[in-house]
Amino acid sequence: MQVLAVASEIFPLVKTGGLADVAGALPLALKPLGIRTRTLIPGYPSVLAAVQGAVACHRFDDLLGEEATVLEVEHRGLDLLILDAPSLYDRAGGPYLDPAGIDHVDNWKRFAALSRAAAEIAAGVLSGWQPDLVHAHDWQAAMAPVYMRYGLVPERPSAVTIHNIAFQGQFASSIFAGLDLPPHAFSIEGVEYYGDVGFLKGGLQTTHAITTVSPSYAEEILTPAFGMGLEGVIGARVADLTGIVNGIDAHVWDPATDPMISAHYSAGNMKRRPENRRAVAEHFGLDQDQGPIFCVVSRLTWQKGMDLLTEVADEIVARGGKLAVLGSGDADLESAFRAAAARYPGRVGLSLGYNEPLSHLMQAGSDAILIPSRFEPCGLTQLYALRYGCIPVVGHTGGLADTVIDANEAALNARVATGVQFSPIDLSGLRLALRRTFRLYENQKLWTQMQKQGMKSDVSWEKSAETYAALYARLVSKGI
Ligand code: ADP
Ligand code: GLC
Repeated sequence: MQVLAVASEIFPLVKTGGLADVAGALPLALKPLGIRTRTLIPGYPSVLAAVQGAVACHRFDDLLGEEATVLEVEHRGLDLLILDAPSLYDRAGGPYLDPAGIDHVDNWKRFAALSRAAAEIAAGVLSGWQPDLVHAHDWQAAMAPVYMRYGLVPERPSAVTIHNIAFQGQFASSIFAGLDLPPHAFSIEGVEYYGDVGFLKGGLQTTHAITTVSPSYAEEILTPAFGMGLEGVIGARVADLTGIVNGIDAHVWDPATDPMISAHYSAGNMKRRPENRRAVAEHFGLDQDQGPIFCVVSRLTWQKGMDLLTEVADEIVARGGKLAVLGSGDADLESAFRAAAARYPGRVGLSLGYNEPLSHLMQAGSDAILIPSRFEPCGLTQLYALRYGCIPVVGHTGGLADTVIDANEAALNARVATGVQFSPIDLSGLRLALRRTFRLYENQKLWTQMQKQGMKSDVSWEKSAETYAALYARLVSKGI
């Protein structure tokens, strides 16, 4: 089976969040199942600089009016197709934002072109290779099935995965003329979305299968509270919807071998874990006492419940705990955390920005990770935490609900608890969860047992990769 995956980011080349981790890990997990994935990604400067020996394999003279070259290269086990289009991708800033933090004004064209290139590749423009199926991730790739459906190229089976329905790729209708689609594509069955153009909406209408990244989120997005305007579209296609929980790359995230942490350990031998704890405290200027270290590794946004967290810093400190925050995001949240760190030297530490190695050390050395997300399609940081013996304290929603086993009495007695879940996801819920966590922490025997239970839980890609493989097989055998 040959699959063309399409994504706007991929670990280890370009990452702003969990999408990159998934795009980078799923192909490796599918390989032993006989599935070869080639992933089409944009040729951002950082990507072109990092890969070596890329070879041109196709040239587009007019990809939505731009010139582009497809480069092929293998990078750390990943089979990549890079869309090198300097007029679209060769610029300062990140994948989506300019250096001032504002969306690149032509994002619609940057990602429509990516999707259009995918559709052409699916139709066989590369000599010697044609995929059996296209797997498009999020709105940036979701136009691929639209291009295939509207007859510009012969259609192939496809799946669209929703990683976060809050990001939909919605643009003013005036861009429609630049998409090179027939006029009737601007319709309810196509990309028309509340009078605008919706990339994700179009993809969900035209693809053969819709997946999202946890079973709970698959149910949630059918409701107005979580569907963010797309609940009707998805509801009409519920027969084609599946929730498949993400796994983690167990080679990149392994406390027994991780080169980014201070000391290695495993569920069977936790003796050296405290060395990582000391390193975390040192990095954040926290007191080296027994009070629990709560960490945060997150985008600092409302989705992640970070406003709630800034409100409980006082309580964490009052109860003898410490807080180490790694993140970046909304300016007012950044300044609220800055204020908390200034208020409580030795008790609250802050690192603003993106720091991959530090994120590993924090999982290895913190006692618990706080994830009060208001919605969370899957969430990866709780999975890393489980594997690293860092107790996840999470809101009961989406993938968080599906992957953490709450330490209620029954679960503790059965020795299956792996973390703390709370609901409602508001200030009172979070405060209660913190109190429960402090109580659990007082009983170190129980705490260690939970750590070990978490470290033993299956957060690998294996099972989910099999589910994707079965879905791919169904789609391909069904045909168009
Ligand atoms: P989302 O994709 O919604 O941000 P996930 O939990 O799925 O949430 O994935 C977030 C990923 O980004 C994880 O790999 C996490 O470790 C990483 N991450 C988030 N913020 C930072 C940061 N400031 N520095 C380093 N890694 C971060
Ligand atoms: C999105 C979601 C996150 C999920 C990730 C990977 O960024 O917000 O919950 O884990 O995609 O699927």
